[in-house]
Amino acid sequence: MEDLDLCWCGSNKHYKDCHKEFDIKYKEKQRQGYKLPKKEWIKNSDEIEGIRKAAFYNNGLLDLIGEKIKAGMTTEDIDVLCTNFLDENKCVSADFNYQGYPKHICTSINDVVCHGIPSTKDVLKNGDIVNVDSTLFYGKYCADASRMYEIGNVSEKAHKLVYVTQECLKKAIEVIKPWESTLNDIGLAIEKYAHKRGFTVVEEFCGHGVGRKMHEDPMVLHYSVREKTCLLVPGMVITIEPMINEGRRDIYVDENDGWTVRTLDHKLSAQVEHTIVITEDGVEILSK
Ligand code: MF3
Ligand code: CO
Ligand code: CO
Repeated sequence: MEDLDLCWCGSNKHYKDCHKEFDIKYKEKQRQGYKLPKKEWIKNSDEIEGIRKAAFYNNGLLDLIGEKIKAGMTTEDIDVLCTNFLDENKCVSADFNYQGYPKHICTSINDVVCHGIPSTKDVLKNGDIVNVDSTLFYGKYCADASRMYEIGNVSEKAHKLVYVTQECLKKAIEVIKPWESTLNDIGLAIEKYAHKRGFTVVEEFCGHGVGRKMHEDPMVLHYSVREKTCLLVPGMVITIEPMINEGRRDIYVDENDGWTVRTLDHKLSAQVEHTIVITEDGVEILSK
C-alpha cells in the first residue's frame, strides 16, 4: 500500500516515484552510523525551483551593484539601487525589518566583518574592499548571497584577502559529495585553506539552511568541530558564507547600532556567500 501513498516531501508525486530510493539510502547510512539531516530540511523540486528563481534575481542585483559601485558613492546609494531593483523585479528584501534591521542589504567595508548598515555617512573610497550581502524573496522563496567589491586600486594584502576568501568558498563547495561528505567537511576545508594562507576564520557567524525563510537549520560552521555532524544529502539547500580576517579572528558588535560587526584589531575582513543545493551527483550553485 505504501507505494500508492504520496511522498513525504510534498511533491504530490507517488512515494515510489519520488523519495523511495532516497529513503533506502537514508536508512542504510543511518545503519552505518552516520548522522542524517532531518527530513524537513529536504526541499522538493518545486521548492528548489522557487529558490533558484529567487537566486536568479539576487544575482542580477549583485551584478548591477558590480556595474555601479565606485568611489564617491555612499552605501545608502547602494541601498537605494537595491530597493529600485527589488521593486522593478517584484522581489522583497528579507533583510528589511529582520529583527528590526533598518535597510535592504548589508554593506560591510574593510574592518567590518558583516551586517554593516547602509548609511549616507559611509562614502566609498579608492582602496576599500566592500561586501554586499543580499537576501531576497521572490514569491514564497528566498536566496541569500554576497560578493566582495574592490573600489579602485586596492592594496596587495586586501586583494589577497579577497582572493583567499573566494577560494575558501570554492574549496568548501568542492568537498561536497552527496551521501559521502558531512557538514564538518565544509568547515574543515575553509579553515585549512584560510590558515594555510595566514588568515583567520570568524566563528561567531555561520552559514545556514535557506529557502522558505532566510535562516533555517542546519547551521553551517566555517571551522571544524570534533562532534559528529550530519551527512550532506540531495535536496538540502544551504548557504556557505565564510568570514576571513587578515589579523585575529576576534570581533565585536558596534554598540551604537547593535548590528555592525567589526574586527577587534581593526584589520581587514572579507566574506563571500553562495546559496547552494546538494543534488544527486554533486552541487548546484544557485547564486551564480
Ligand atoms: N544575509 C545575512 C546572512 O547571510 C543575514 C543578514 S540579516 C540582516 O545570513 F538583518 F542583517 F540583514
Ligand atoms: Co546567509
Ligand atoms: Co547573506
